[in-house]
Amino acid sequence: MGNQEDNRLWGGRFSESTDAFVQEFTASVDFDRRMYRQDIAGSIAHATMLAEVGVLDDAERDAIIDGLERVRGEIERGEFRWSVALEDVHMNIEARLTELIGGTGKKLHTGRSRNDQVATDLRLWLRERIDLVDGEMRRLLEGLADLAEREAGTIMPGFTHLQSAQPVTLGHHLLAWAEMLCRDRERLADCRGRVNRMPLGSAALAGTTYPINRKRTMELLEFEGLCENSLDAVSDRDFAIEFCALAATCVMHLSRISEELVLWTSARFGFVSLPDRFCTGSSIMPQKKNPDVPELVRGKTGRVNGDLISLLTLMKGQPLAYNKDNQEDKEPLFDAADTLLGCLRAFADMIPALEPDREVMREAAREGFATATDLADYLVRKGVAFRDAHEIVGKAVAHGLETGRDLGEMDLGTLQRFSDQIGADVFDVLTLEGSVSARSHPGGTAPERVREAAASLRSRLAEQ
Ligand code: ARG
Repeated sequence: MGNQEDNRLWGGRFSESTDAFVQEFTASVDFDRRMYRQDIAGSIAHATMLAEVGVLDDAERDAIIDGLERVRGEIERGEFRWSVALEDVHMNIEARLTELIGGTGKKLHTGRSRNDQVATDLRLWLRERIDLVDGEMRRLLEGLADLAEREAGTIMPGFTHLQSAQPVTLGHHLLAWAEMLCRDRERLADCRGRVNRMPLGSAALAGTTYPINRKRTMELLEFEGLCENSLDAVSDRDFAIEFCALAATCVMHLSRISEELVLWTSARFGFVSLPDRFCTGSSIMPQKKNPDVPELVRGKTGRVNGDLISLLTLMKGQPLAYNKDNQEDKEPLFDAADTLLGCLRAFADMIPALEPDREVMREAAREGFATATDLADYLVRKGVAFRDAHEIVGKAVAHGLETGRDLGEMDLGTLQRFSDQIGADVFDVLTLEGSVSARSHPGGTAPERVREAAASLRSRLAEQ
């Protein structure tokens, strides 16, 4: 045998060594070594189970577990020598185990294949990431609940078509963001349930002839259930696709929030400011303070969408069962998980640090005829049909545009020129406070409702 195949754990039937470039081209160790902890945990559980069913004796099991723990120590201390010739994380670890403990190491792979091994590692890896993502989502939501509570009575213009529409409270707007993220968190929990099923025991594709106890391995690795069909178990990557889909949705939500923050922090809006630590300056324009974190998060949407499309395309048309194509699942999944986690972390740090300018927001709400709908509703209460009321208020707004005055700044006589149904009580509805307070149904923008909604969000977060 040439020097390359000395390393190969499958070299038996081969008569020439792998082409050097092919070896490099087909190797995955540069990226799948990230799963070393999961790979070792899976092997320890497998060996434990094999001993219980009598395939290994206790001394062999102990040697294997001890050896695997030594390998883990070497990796964590940076002493491990990863070898491309050994292709992937699985064979690197197994080869080192055999170097350390001798021939017993070669018994570890009894009753399993890299096909069920890699599917197991990937699920374990993703399960851990999901829990980290969930923690950051929760932290972000807590920040939003606190800020919404604080800003429950802060009035700002609400927009449709990015045109000033009706006054809303800032707390209400922040809780709209929170609702998007709560749905993402639900999707994450739902996805976790399907990630958390165990492929191990499916071996290459058809199962194994050894008297394995899959339930036992499942308990040891804290999976919630078994993958029920061995062919499906080694080839299914739906769980990774689902994760990327929810990651893409969540980053899309963060990009919408980012866009609003970019607008709001601009000098034209001036609604909020971001502390300097979340911004950078310009190398040429000394006056600039750029909202880098929201902009970058907005930009990250593209790569997560790409990760999702990569995985969907990877799986399209693949015949059962395992195909080498599947090695391409890791980089997009890792990237989606890393990106999502990073974006959430940045947001969870940034949201509590937002500094709203209440005066500027209020002034903006006052300027845009934001209480026009309130005036129409007032006329309806006085018996005018809504369409007629709409027309009347439209004329009043046109007059306001000509004279540079908001509806609330016109005197009673002026307003009565548009409808004799208008009385002195009209000024109650033309105030911003009156406008938001009147929308006090569940889901409405009234400050008392926002306080309730923030409290209910907090109690939901405490439960889950
Ligand atoms: N590195 C491989 C992967 O990521 C492990 C499974 C290899 N299995 C095989 N039959 N070649 O998918």
